[in-house]
Amino acid sequence: MTRAQHFGWFLARGFGPHGWGTPALDWNYRWTEPRLYQESARVLEQAGFDLLLIEDAPSLGSPDTIDLRVRQAFGGPKHDPLLLAPYLFEVTRHLGVVPTVNPAASLPYTAARQFATLQHLSGHRLGLNVVTDTGSARHFGDAPQLGHDAAYDRAEEWLAGLRQLWGSWDDGALIADPARGRYADGSRLRPTRHRGEHFAFDGPLNALPFGTGGEPVIASPGGSGRGLAFAGANSDVQLALSPMDERSVRAYRERVHTAAIEGGRRPDDVRILFALEPVIVASAEEAERIVAGSRDPDDDALRRIADKQSSDLETDLTSFDLDKPLGSSVFGAHVSQGSIRRLVGDRDIETTPLRVLLSDLARLGRLTDRTGFVGTADEFADYIEELGEWGNDGVLLWGDLHPVTLHRTLDELVPILRRRGILRTEYVPGGLRANLAAF
Ligand SMILES: Cc1cc2nc3c(=O)[nH]c(=O)nc-3n(C[C@H](O)[C@H](O)[C@H](O)COP(=O)(O)O)c2cc1C
Repeated sequence: MTRAQHFGWFLARGFGPHGWGTPALDWNYRWTEPRLYQESARVLEQAGFDLLLIEDAPSLGSPDTIDLRVRQAFGGPKHDPLLLAPYLFEVTRHLGVVPTVNPAASLPYTAARQFATLQHLSGHRLGLNVVTDTGSARHFGDAPQLGHDAAYDRAEEWLAGLRQLWGSWDDGALIADPARGRYADGSRLRPTRHRGEHFAFDGPLNALPFGTGGEPVIASPGGSGRGLAFAGANSDVQLALSPMDERSVRAYRERVHTAAIEGGRRPDDVRILFALEPVIVASAEEAERIVAGSRDPDDDALRRIADKQSSDLETDLTSFDLDKPLGSSVFGAHVSQGSIRRLVGDRDIETTPLRVLLSDLARLGRLTDRTGFVGTADEFADYIEELGEWGNDGVLLWGDLHPVTLHRTLDELVPILRRRGILRTEYVPGGLRANLAAF
């Protein structure tokens, strides 16, 4: 039976100058102003999407490699997506907006109050993508940088603190009854006191309780064992970056569900959205042509990929000979192991020429043979329907947030998904949490 799924859009390079280096720049891509994003948020809502998720990194990275991040705008500048959210809420009524937040960057009381304010302002449509980036520690005080797992521990303490503060107002604390001449009952506010490993604060929170709309939705993207344990114990939405064949999808879902049970929750408490970057084209012939055209990238194409990789890896790949192996010694200790794995794949870094590694990244694949995500709208609908047969909850389509990109991706796909009953045509009242729970 066809299964309805949830759809999200992932603004994968954050609130930054996406148009740079693309023809969209000439389509008035004024990234610092809200209008472009507002137009796109309306499109996503018209399409029946549950949410828009906005990537973020508060830091430009290591002091020595900042130029690699900014020279082609791959790693910055990035403005704060939390502050973009109200502009998007203003022009929509149902779409959830999920900015990325970093537990190192704001104290629990401040964060709880700001998020509570936005949750009310938006009619319960706020979500928070909680990430555990450790490299930006130096911007937020003089505490030493945490290790991978310790950063998840801190995120858990932070989130528990937020939830404790959000729960400051017991049932009956808010009266707001002119007949009784009483707005609230202070004796029903909890004098929360937290002294933990990473944070210390007192409550109660000076913000209204959420009522039936509930707390902001928590999303998380971590894929490590510790990351999945965090999701199982805490998240409403888990973002999955995993191979998307049947076995891997089922195995990934099983791991998240087990983590939920171990975290004292039900498997169904976590919606899992698989992230993919679609290239939707008009015909199978066009798809074949695009895939074939990416097979032997020229030096210009490789240079662009090297620029992006230089930003992610904080290592200048453009200064190396394309026809010689890189060797692992070029990467300093500050470089993310995950980013190195993405560059190298299954190859041997000591013997494989850089050209081969970059060409692997440049190559696109056909959706029909599951080597990539180039396909027609019908092929994508077939694939998403198949994901649903494997129990999948939803899909996170990833790209920039220019209206042209959205229309190119969605105009044909949305009607097909709706005809098949995979994509919602109506929202339920109650905000993001209610819509995620609707099926
Ligand atoms: C779909 C998706 C979105 C992500 N968004 C962000 C983000 O906005 N900011 C960030 O610092 N990391 C982001 N990440 C990276 C993760 O937070 C995390 O650093 C990475 O998955 C490594 O964590 P792990 O070791 O638990 O897998 C994202 C990852 C995925 C798959």
